Amino acid sequence: MCGIIGYVGGQNVLDTLLTGLDNLEYRGYDSAGVALRNDEGVDLVKREGEVSALKAAISSLDVNGSSGIGHTRWSTHGEPSDANAHPHTDCSNEVAVVHNGIIDNYSELRERLSASGHEFTSETDSEVIPHLVEEHLSAGKSPEKAFAETLKTLEGSYAIAMVISGEDTIYAARSGSPLVVGIGEEGYYLASDVPAFLEFTEDVIYLEDGDIVILSDSGYKTIDENGAPVSRSVETVEWSPEGAEKGGFDHYMLKEIHEQPTALERATRGRALTDARMTDGGAATNELDPSFIEDIESVQFIACGTSYHAALYGEQLLAERGIKARTTLASEFVASPPPLHDDTLVIGVTQSGETADTLEALREASSRGMKTLAITNVIGSTAARECDEAMFIRAGPEIGVAATKTFSSQVTTLAQFAAFVSDDPDDLSSVQAELSSLPDKIQQILNDSQAAALAHKYCDAESFFFVGRGTGHPVALEGALKLKEISYEHAEGFPAGELKHGPLALVTPDTPVFAINTGENVDRMRGTIREVAARGAPVVVIGEESTTFDEVTDHLVIPSTSPELAGILANVQLQLLSYHIASLLERPIDKPRNLAKSVTVE
Ligand code: AGP
Repeated sequence: MCGIIGYVGGQNVLDTLLTGLDNLEYRGYDSAGVALRNDEGVDLVKREGEVSALKAAISSLDVNGSSGIGHTRWSTHGEPSDANAHPHTDCSNEVAVVHNGIIDNYSELRERLSASGHEFTSETDSEVIPHLVEEHLSAGKSPEKAFAETLKTLEGSYAIAMVISGEDTIYAARSGSPLVVGIGEEGYYLASDVPAFLEFTEDVIYLEDGDIVILSDSGYKTIDENGAPVSRSVETVEWSPEGAEKGGFDHYMLKEIHEQPTALERATRGRALTDARMTDGGAATNELDPSFIEDIESVQFIACGTSYHAALYGEQLLAERGIKARTTLASEFVASPPPLHDDTLVIGVTQSGETADTLEALREASSRGMKTLAITNVIGSTAARECDEAMFIRAGPEIGVAATKTFSSQVTTLAQFAAFVSDDPDDLSSVQAELSSLPDKIQQILNDSQAAALAHKYCDAESFFFVGRGTGHPVALEGALKLKEISYEHAEGFPAGELKHGPLALVTPDTPVFAINTGENVDRMRGTIREVAARGAPVVVIGEESTTFDEVTDHLVIPSTSPELAGILANVQLQLLSYHIASLLERPIDKPRNLAKSVTVE
C-alpha cells in the first residue's frame, strides 16, 4: 500500500510531485523518492524515512524536469532503506519505475535477468520491472511496446508508473492495485488515490485492472495490454481539497473525529424508503433498489479491521430484526470459505474500497454466484465498481491511518440498511429520526468529553481492557484496536460475559477496564463491572448518566439515544481517549508505525 504520484504538464514538476507525496504519505512512510525526466536524462532522488527526509535531500541538489513520478513506500520486500526506496532504474538509469503491489514471480525473473548480466541494487520485487523494460528496449521495441510486453511477464498485483529518458511521457498500468488519472488545466496527473492531486483538479479517470495509460503534455490515451484503445469516463469528485487538509487541528485523526457530526448528517440526509428506490440526497442515484434485496434471506458480511467491527455491529442490527446475518474476517473468508446459500447477500464493508483481502473475498463470493454489495466511502473504488451494488457512507476523505469517522458513518449506513431490509417503513423512519439527532449529541461529547483527563490518569497503565455486550461488544473491540494502533499500548476488547471464562486472570489494579454500557444490557453489565472491581481494577463506564454504579471509578458520559445506536456515541468517547493517550505518549498519531491507510496487498 504504497503511494504513487506522476505529473506531466506546465506546473513546476518537482513541487507537484512533492505535494502529491505529502498527500499520499498515509499510504506508507518507510521511504520516498522521485524521478524527473529532463534533457540530460533522468534525475532520481530517494531516501529512507518520511517525505520530509526526501525534501531535505533534494534541497541541496539541483533536481528538475518536465515530467516525473514519485513514490511513498510501505515495505513488503526488503527493509526500509535508501537502496530499497523507489524509484528503481535499469542498468543505464534511462528507465525509472515506481510500483505499488507485489510481483509474485519476481525471484525467477530476477534470476534470469541477473544471468543475462543485469545488476540489481535493491532487495525489492519491484526492481525487476525497469530491467525487463530495458531488455525489450534493447531488442528494439518502442517504449510503449516494451512497457506492455513487460506487464505480460508480471504475476501478482501492481500499479506501476514509468518515465524514460528522451521523452516527456509517463507510462502507467494497474492490475490489482488502485490507480487514478487527473485531468487538469495545467497537465495530467497520476496517483494511487484522488487526494494526491485534488488541489489541482477534481476531474478523474478511475483505471480498471488491465488498463495501461500513457500521459504526455499533449494528451493521454488508455489502452489494453495489446494496445487496443479502451474508453474510460472522466468523473468529477465531490470532495474538496480542504477535506484533505488538517484544518487547524494537530492531527488528521483529531480533525476527522471532529468531522463526525457533519459526516453523520451526510450519511443520513435524503435516504428515504420509497416504493421506487432508496434515494441518495433527493435525486434517485445508484442507491439500493428494493428488487435487489427482495429475495435475500440472509446476509454474509466480510471486512477487515475497523470495518469488521462496524460489520459486527451491523450483524446485530439485522439480528434484532430477525434477519440471519454472519460476519467473517475477509482473510479468513478466503482461507476457509463458509457455506453460502443462493439467497445470501454478501456485503463487503470497506472504507477505502481497495483492501486486498476484502476484494479477494468479494471476488470469491461473486465467483460462487452470490449477489454482492459494497458499503464503502470511495465512489469509483474497486469494491464499488466490482460489486453488483454499492452504498456510500459519505464520510469524505479520511487521511488519518486510524479509521474514526468512517466507523460511525459505516454503522449509520448499516442501521439504515437493516431498517430498509426489515421492510418496515416505520422502522426506517424511526431509525432515521434518531440518527438525525446524533450529530448534535456527538458535538456535545466533543465539547464536554472528559477523555483527555482520563488519558492523563491512565496513560501509564500496564494494559487496557474494553468490555461490552450486544452492540457494545464490537465497540469494545474497536476501542481496543484504536488504542493499539496509535498508542502501541497493549489493549484488548472482550464480550463482557467472557471475562470470567479466562481473561479475568489478566485484570489487576494496573489494568483499567472500560465498560461500554450501552444497548439493552445495561443491568447485565453490572455483574462484569463488579467482577473486575473486585480485582481492584479501575472501572471506567462509557454510557448515559444512569448507567453508572458504585463500583465505577470514572464515567465517560454519552447523551441518551436509542439503545441500538448508543454504541456510535460511546465509540466517539473511546476515539478521544485513544487520541489523548497517544498524544501524551507522543506517538506519530496520523502515521503509526508498521501500518498504512489502505492495505492493498494480501
Ligand atoms: C483501522 O483504523 C485501520 N486503518 C484498519 O484496520 C482498517 O480498518 C482496515 O485495514 C480496513 O480498511 P478498509 O475499511 O479500507 O477496508
